[in-house]
Amino acid sequence: MANIRSRFKKPADKSVVAYSASIPVDWRLYKYDIAGSIAHAGMLAKQGIISDQDGETITWGLVSIREEIEQGKLEIKPEMEDVHMAIESWLIEKVGEVGGKLHTARSRNDQVAMDLRLFIKEAISNGITGLRGLQRALIELADANKDTVMPGYTHLQSAQPVLMAHHFLAYFEMFQRDIARFNDCLKRTDVMPLGSGALAGVGYNVDRDFLARELGFSQISQNSLDAVSDRDFVLDYEAAAGVCMMHISRLAEEIVLWSSAEFDFIEIDEAYTTGSSIMPQKRNPDVAELARGKTGRVYGNLMALLTAMKALPLAYNRDMQEDKHGLFDTVDTLLSTLEVFTGMMKTLKIKVENTRKAVERGYILATDLADYLVKKGEAFRTAYDIIARLVSYAEEKGKSFEQLKMSELKGFSPLFGRDVHKITIASSLAARDTIGGTSPNQVARALAAAKKIAEQG
Ligand code: ARG
Repeated sequence: MANIRSRFKKPADKSVVAYSASIPVDWRLYKYDIAGSIAHAGMLAKQGIISDQDGETITWGLVSIREEIEQGKLEIKPEMEDVHMAIESWLIEKVGEVGGKLHTARSRNDQVAMDLRLFIKEAISNGITGLRGLQRALIELADANKDTVMPGYTHLQSAQPVLMAHHFLAYFEMFQRDIARFNDCLKRTDVMPLGSGALAGVGYNVDRDFLARELGFSQISQNSLDAVSDRDFVLDYEAAAGVCMMHISRLAEEIVLWSSAEFDFIEIDEAYTTGSSIMPQKRNPDVAELARGKTGRVYGNLMALLTAMKALPLAYNRDMQEDKHGLFDTVDTLLSTLEVFTGMMKTLKIKVENTRKAVERGYILATDLADYLVKKGEAFRTAYDIIARLVSYAEEKGKSFEQLKMSELKGFSPLFGRDVHKITIASSLAARDTIGGTSPNQVARALAAAKKIAEQG
């Protein structure tokens, strides 16, 4: 095994070995670690820092270790400390002392920063793919519900009629911003730190641009102290994931509400519901509830890392090893949530009759009636008062607006005329024809725009 305790007289206490080992967690970085090492060995040989033959032996060793890991042939032990030490130890076991040349002009500090960056680049790409899938499911729902009316809410009180397509497209917009946030995070993640060494750079003629090209990075880091101690890209990812989960949790909450007997707007496909262990009538929206609940853990991971990084002096500190647990959990939570949520949305049934009934309940056209009086010359605030009193009156009489007689309406304002009957849910929707509004016109335009964006992949 690669020995990094040569200066000590005593072995580390068992409790210390267990306490400080990160291998059970960082194990999953092996792919990126090996890719980084292969590029590094190639660079060392190209620069004449090691011989071509040593470079080839090391590369061969690393490739075979990767195969053996994938075949489950290598056993990880806590004494190996971390994934970097484990791979180096296996390499030395396999190819002998020449394996010990791999760590020339490198430190675990720049190595782990590089591994994490490669890992996050892949996580971002998978996250964007997942978000696009969810957006497509929303587009399908919007497309199928271009004519479905539902109450729009403020304070969870029925407020004004909206098209259900408009409601789904609101989430499309949120996820579009999430994609933009992840792409932005990618710019700061796509920076190659190798060559920074432990903290001060390395005393060999390394070719950092070559490493960046080999490993698919578009930039190299500009300050070695910063490069080994920067975890902003992890925080960026976790923050973007937090906002994304917040968006998902809002949709989740609506799924929970809408599937309740009280709303009864939707039916969640059986494959995405669970039963109760005691109440046989129940179909629980567990996927939505879990997505809502897991959001808390994703926020927690961000807070944990922000707190671990707070006030750390330059450069690397072992505290930073704590970055991985939360990061991996966030990546796994976000990707699995996106996958299962997309499946649930794709199979959602909308109860069009019920959403319409909900619109017809209450006095959802009150704003339209006020607007009607405004268009006849009334000041908006006066019109508002008139309609407010009209609502109380109708409520007392137990009548809807449509059921009020012209004489009753005229009692509130002489401006009411026969044309008031032209105010309907359809007219209310059509009237809101501003860009971004819920008119069928605007929604069709927004849907076409969303489809175009989603096609881009
Ligand atoms: N396991 C360590 C981590 O994840 C790797 C870097 C270790 N560096 C060190 N100087 N002990 O942060």
